[in-house]
Amino acid sequence: MNIIVAKDYKEMSQASSRMIEEQITKKPDAVLGLATGGTPLGTYKELVRSYKEGRADYRFLSTINLDEYVGLDPEHHQSYCYFMNQNFFQFINIDKKNTYIPYGKTEGLEQECRRYEEVIDTVGPPDLQLLGIGENGHIGFNEPGTSFDSETHIVHLTDSTREANARFFESMEDVPTKAITMGIRSIMKSQKIILLASGERKADAIYQLIHGEPDEQFPASSLKNHDDLTLIVDEDAYKKVQ
Ligand code: F6R
Repeated sequence: MNIIVAKDYKEMSQASSRMIEEQITKKPDAVLGLATGGTPLGTYKELVRSYKEGRADYRFLSTINLDEYVGLDPEHHQSYCYFMNQNFFQFINIDKKNTYIPYGKTEGLEQECRRYEEVIDTVGPPDLQLLGIGENGHIGFNEPGTSFDSETHIVHLTDSTREANARFFESMEDVPTKAITMGIRSIMKSQKIILLASGERKADAIYQLIHGEPDEQFPASSLKNHDDLTLIVDEDAYKKVQ
């Protein structure tokens, strides 16, 4: 595991966007695995900036996102599809046909999971997967207890996850009860993985990731079995390790 400790959120974002740019320069038709959430927003911002400065070309690139809520239309303002368009895709010259996100509005959820795993296997697996981490060690929507053998699957969101996300919806009833997520095994198929963490809120999770053994009760620990993992953390997220 490589560990890069950045001074703050901005430096963390710059370090991860540099690694992504290097990947695209080396392989213009690379496949990137992408995440939503607050942590990668700075990375997307940096990538948009360097695109505008002419330092990256996304024409031949494909992207595969980690997860999506069940029941939300891709146009819904809280869907992860909308998030990706708003924060990244609309600003770069990527061909939208090459951006893959699970389709949460389907009636055939099991079929959608199988279709998505096939996308991972045929379009991907990603050359580089970007991940955030939950305070309880979740990656994607893989909560503690998820099998390390899991592929794309449906998750019933816990009350605490729904409550944490309720602020983005008009009422608690509007918060989806299920999501589709790449499984742990799906994530591990990537050639390279970058995990980002920023802020004191993530310090316990980063401590456990670095010092703990792989354990299904802490999903991110599965990444310790990957041979090309880079953690990019800021000093606040790293503070318990020192
Ligand atoms: C997002 C995702 C989640 C987040 C995690 C951290 O696609 O899969 O696992 O990475 O919940 O979220 P933030 O970055 O908001 O702290």
